[in-house]
Amino acid sequence: MNNRHLYYLLSVFLFLAAACSSGTKKTVETGDLMKTYSEEYRPQFHFSPDSAWMNDPNGMVFYEGEYHLFYQYYPDSTVWGPMHWGHAISTDLVHWQHMPIALFPDSLGYIFSGSAVVDWKNTTGFGSAENPPLVAIYTYHNPEIAKAGGVDVESQGIAYSLDKGRSWTKYEGNPVIPNDGNRDFRDPNVIWNDEIQKWNLVLSAHDHVQIYSSVDLKEWTYESSFGIDAGAHGGVWECPDLFPLQVEGTDETKWVLIVNINPGGPNGGSGTQYFLGQFDGHQFMADSKETSWIDWGRDNYAGVTWSDVPKEDGRRIFLGWMSNWEYAQVVPTEKWRSAMTVPRALSLIQKNGQYIVKSVPVKELGKIEDRTMVVESEALKIDGEKELDLHGINLNQSRLSFEFDLGEAHPESFGLVLENDLGEQVKLSYSTSTKQFQFDRTKSGDMSFSDKFTGVASAPYDIGTSVKLELFIDAASAEIFVDGGDLVMTEIFFNSKPYSKLQIFSKGNPVTLNRAEIVALDSIW
Ligand code: FRU
Repeated sequence: MNNRHLYYLLSVFLFLAAACSSGTKKTVETGDLMKTYSEEYRPQFHFSPDSAWMNDPNGMVFYEGEYHLFYQYYPDSTVWGPMHWGHAISTDLVHWQHMPIALFPDSLGYIFSGSAVVDWKNTTGFGSAENPPLVAIYTYHNPEIAKAGGVDVESQGIAYSLDKGRSWTKYEGNPVIPNDGNRDFRDPNVIWNDEIQKWNLVLSAHDHVQIYSSVDLKEWTYESSFGIDAGAHGGVWECPDLFPLQVEGTDETKWVLIVNINPGGPNGGSGTQYFLGQFDGHQFMADSKETSWIDWGRDNYAGVTWSDVPKEDGRRIFLGWMSNWEYAQVVPTEKWRSAMTVPRALSLIQKNGQYIVKSVPVKELGKIEDRTMVVESEALKIDGEKELDLHGINLNQSRLSFEFDLGEAHPESFGLVLENDLGEQVKLSYSTSTKQFQFDRTKSGDMSFSDKFTGVASAPYDIGTSVKLELFIDAASAEIFVDGGDLVMTEIFFNSKPYSKLQIFSKGNPVTLNRAEIVALDSIW
């Protein structure tokens, strides 16, 4: 919880007030969205709450044509506090409709992160086979026990909805998994496991994950633990997710275990690691104890995947919180804090003898593509610096895509710079000697809010003779996908004026820009 401690005492007082108001349904003021969504730094094609504090995505489930996104939400402030589940719905993963708050704190505690599933067989008995319940599985975090120094602060509860997620009833038998003696004991993620014809749940317990099984989502049996001797341990393990993925182009399936960690991420603060292995409904057996990272940037945290995406679609769709606990509560937005990443489809590939979980922005984002500028007629040799003519396209709300040919003799370094006329800039570069991509936001704009918001993020990458870079730029963020998502970096920044220049550079030897696409993206709000 690191820097959240500061807010903790205050939140304990606020908890009582929030618990008292838990019966009252608050609706989000959706009034003048045009005005709401045009503030400084406001993302235009990413999900962000219309006001107040948001962190992790929660309860992501698809049902009857609707993608549900719940999220950690504190409606009374722009810093973390007594957690609720905010709610939004989308039919296309691009446009979102704000819904009333789904879950309020109650006498058992704040509503921390968790997941949701469609209980198709009505194993809970909360609904019927004709009208299967949506069931949310979440953590109760009891601030009074925490304040008194107790250990049994966190336990797991469930709630259900019989009206497509519009209203929720908490189960009277909560908690369904009482605290086990770990002070950090949270973020349950549930899947239906065909192989054992039971539900499996994975949760994080301080420095490891625990796996449970159940026939009815109410009574849970502890199965096993994973991780004390594996992976990164620079901080607390949080928000796990466990699901199978078929290795692209083969019949082989591996299980992916996502484990968020804070701090201890690859470039400081929050990060998302994963393990590959086998899972038999009881135990996760990792192929390797080494950590891999879903994203090497500093601003993709607490990401997990959607449940119940139809088999015909077949995608595992991931969404992360586009911030970092190192500075999330002090970033210079006024009315709201934080946005989600774009939804990304995960796939498992083999490359140079290694298995990689790669992330690709969902194809639905193509819907908001607008004016496009393409450079491809003659390949452009870049030796030094070259500014590209944007033909009036707004870089700050765009998708940029580049195909580089590195030639026989690779350049020492090459990359691109986005800059405004105040000289503020962000820079993405690749260095042949260190074999790293780097994202430099040290001159990006406002950085005064935190001394943790500094430095350059690095990501190791074995580059081939050509490379493809794709960037989604939205007001105050860049999501970078290398070679179709083999490497990903997500970074936020706060430039005081929009970036208006795009420069490509190469040092040492030239690079050839075979193709460039600059695509304006429409606002979703
Ligand atoms: C991750 C996290 C979760 C917890 C939630 C509280 O960012 O710390 O572990 O459930 O945020 O808001």
